[in-house]
Amino acid sequence: MSSVTVRVPAKVNVQLSVGPLREDGYHDLVNVFHAVSIFDEVVAKESEGMTVSVVGEWADQVPVDDGNLAIQAARALAKHAGRTYGAELVIHKAIPVAGGMAGGSADAAGALVACNELWGLGLPLEDLMEIAGDLGSDVPFSLLGGTAVGTGRGEQLSQLPTGGLFHWVFAVAEGGLSTAKVYAECDRLRAETGADVPWPELDEALLAALRAGDAPALGARLANDLQLAALTLRPDLAGTLDEGRRHGALGALVSGSGPTCAFLATDADHARDLASTLSQFAGCTTAVPAHGPVPGAALL
Ligand code: C5P
Repeated sequence: MSSVTVRVPAKVNVQLSVGPLREDGYHDLVNVFHAVSIFDEVVAKESEGMTVSVVGEWADQVPVDDGNLAIQAARALAKHAGRTYGAELVIHKAIPVAGGMAGGSADAAGALVACNELWGLGLPLEDLMEIAGDLGSDVPFSLLGGTAVGTGRGEQLSQLPTGGLFHWVFAVAEGGLSTAKVYAECDRLRAETGADVPWPELDEALLAALRAGDAPALGARLANDLQLAALTLRPDLAGTLDEGRRHGALGALVSGSGPTCAFLATDADHARDLASTLSQFAGCTTAVPAHGPVPGAALL
């Protein structure tokens, strides 16, 4: 095989409950991931060396040096296999960069699946999931897709049943937010109040809404403990959330660590209309409709 293409989705967190800061610098989470139909594609071609390039909408914002998570993933897989392999990786970018939608994690997951195939390794998903967990807290979910709850750092996953499709709009904001900085701001705000940080618990009402495919109920339960921190760092996002709510969103929240904002729509038509309205809003670079759940990293 001389070239392999993998398609991999973005995610939104429908519940992100952040526990106390751990000694290793991470937080224990209850993180309900939901994969949505905004996809990057990762192409892996035979090559002597290991290179990465990025094309598409947000290409100029992605590092192509060793900081690129896809190339780190390919190297980690080669190391796991105990061999020196090469690959020319080309990422077709549609997921916003540093947007809170796990775009970097998606590319890493895509590279794992693509190189596993290109190099004929035939490793099972469990092995890829383990390598993925070392690359980043969200990478295992990008492999798995669907809707799943992540505990620990977010890397210990269980699939959740969902009834039907949910329709979303994602409003992309100018610039990005560093995940580490948003967690640090969350800790700072918590230290200011001095209140105890409760252990994160899965929201049973949210689970029931997902299971029933009940969009109004899901909209009412959307929750993100990082939202206050993201809004403190980016106060302009509050206006974007309000604009979506004014136009009938069933729920509105910052996606992960932001700055992308996610809106739950009543159906596909509403999502299309809401995306077109939000695209005109001064605070948004663009707004795109999408649906979920969708599968994780998949060979094309
Ligand atoms: O695991 P990942 O590299 O994606 O995490 C990026 C940063 O986000 C970490 O360095 C940490 O600051 C923060 N983080 C956290 N708790 C988690 C996941 C991420 O504090 N469960």
